[in-house]
Amino acid sequence: MSAPFRPIADTWLRVGLGATVLVVAGGPVVLWGYMRSPLFTTTGQAVDQPVEFDHRHHVRDDGISCEYCHFDAWRAAPAGVPSTDLCMNCHSQVWNDSPLTEPLRRSWFEDRPIAWNRVHQVPDFVFFDHRAHVTRGVACETCHGRVDLMPRVEQVATLQMGWCLDCHRAPERYVRPPEDVAVMGYTPTIPGARIVAELDLRPPLRCSGCHR
Ligand code: HEC
Ligand code: HEC
Ligand code: HEC
Ligand code: HEC
Ligand code: HEC
Repeated sequence: MSAPFRPIADTWLRVGLGATVLVVAGGPVVLWGYMRSPLFTTTGQAVDQPVEFDHRHHVRDDGISCEYCHFDAWRAAPAGVPSTDLCMNCHSQVWNDSPLTEPLRRSWFEDRPIAWNRVHQVPDFVFFDHRAHVTRGVACETCHGRVDLMPRVEQVATLQMGWCLDCHRAPERYVRPPEDVAVMGYTPTIPGARIVAELDLRPPLRCSGCHR
């Protein structure tokens, strides 16, 4: 009498079972790794934009401050990206026949805003407010890195909960005088602990601080 299954079938059963165990046990590990990897957190990835806007030229070479274009960061939750009108303050005169600024002129004549693509984004269930940070001594550079050296803006921080909490638990390691928040390549001169004491900084650690 022959066995109901050939030995090879038994082997396949073992391989199948083994693979299932690996997927069930290993899946979360792989997923966890992915969630923490630059692939998922989108750090270090430059995003294509409808206009080849270059922070290096505007911030470094032309000396335009962050505040000129991202003034909302001092007043509101979103930092905002400037309107075509603001760009045209200069580009109706400077580089006004370059192909690089052509999409800008089209946007202006057609009265249609430029559709910039987002680089940084926290999920909807997270409350984030620029003003609460920028007016309290947390610098653009601390969260966004050396934007003045980036041909295209890249995300440098993970923007994950652990990253927020790391600073909220010990803000003295990061803060500077509020008048210096737009400075790039800053060297600390005043101890963070003194700034924390003077401004009486108490970043929220409770869940409802960031999940409202
Ligand atoms: C002349 C105007 C201008 C100036 C000055 C400027 N920016 Fe921008 N910024 C833009 C525009 C336009 C965009 C959208 C296109 C892009 O992402 O490059 C942008 C995008 C950004 C982004 C990415 C936004 C996103 O989608 O997540 C960050 C971060 C940023 N700027 C920070 C800064 C910092 C920090 C400074 C000062 C060192 C600065 N910018 C100065 C115009 C400006
Ligand atoms: C305060 C004046 C000023 C403002 C405001 C300004 N630009 Fe410029 N932009 C310049 C100058 C000057 C250059 C020449 C680049 C250089 O320095 O070599 C330039 C160059 C450019 C170029 C050519 C590529 C490059 O970076 O060299 C693009 C594209 C451009 N600007 C887009 C924009 C956009 C989009 C805005 C609005 C978000 C803007 N500019 C706002 C002054 C300005
Ligand atoms: C405490 C960290 C932190 C600081 C400080 C900070 N940012 Fe941001 N920034 C973020 C986060 C987080 C986002 C994504 C916000 C979201 O999804 O709502 C963001 C988004 C942006 C954007 C995208 C557009 C928008 O409307 O929000 C721009 C532009 C920007 N930041 C510029 C700046 C500038 C300029 C400064 C300094 C004046 C600055 N940021 C300071 C964390 C920071
Ligand atoms: C480098 C330091 C730093 C980082 C990173 C940071 N914060 Fe903060 N946060 C602060 C400081 C400092 C304050 C101000 C506390 C005060 O005013 O007493 C603050 C305040 C806040 C507040 C209170 C605002 C209000 O109006 O009550 C919220 C909410 C907040 N942060 C959310 C976040 C979130 C979400 C992230 C991550 C995406 C983040 N923060 C990343 C330092 C930081
Ligand atoms: C300083 C701001 C901040 C505080 C305080 C905070 N969170 Fe978060 N939380 C975030 C941010 C930012 C994210 C989204 C980014 C990420 O980590 O994936 C997040 C994501 C989450 C998620 C989604 C799962 C995940 O890991 O992506 C859960 C669940 C969560 N938070 C629960 C909590 C609980 C519970 C508390 C209180 C013990 C808390 N959070 C306090 C900022 C905060």
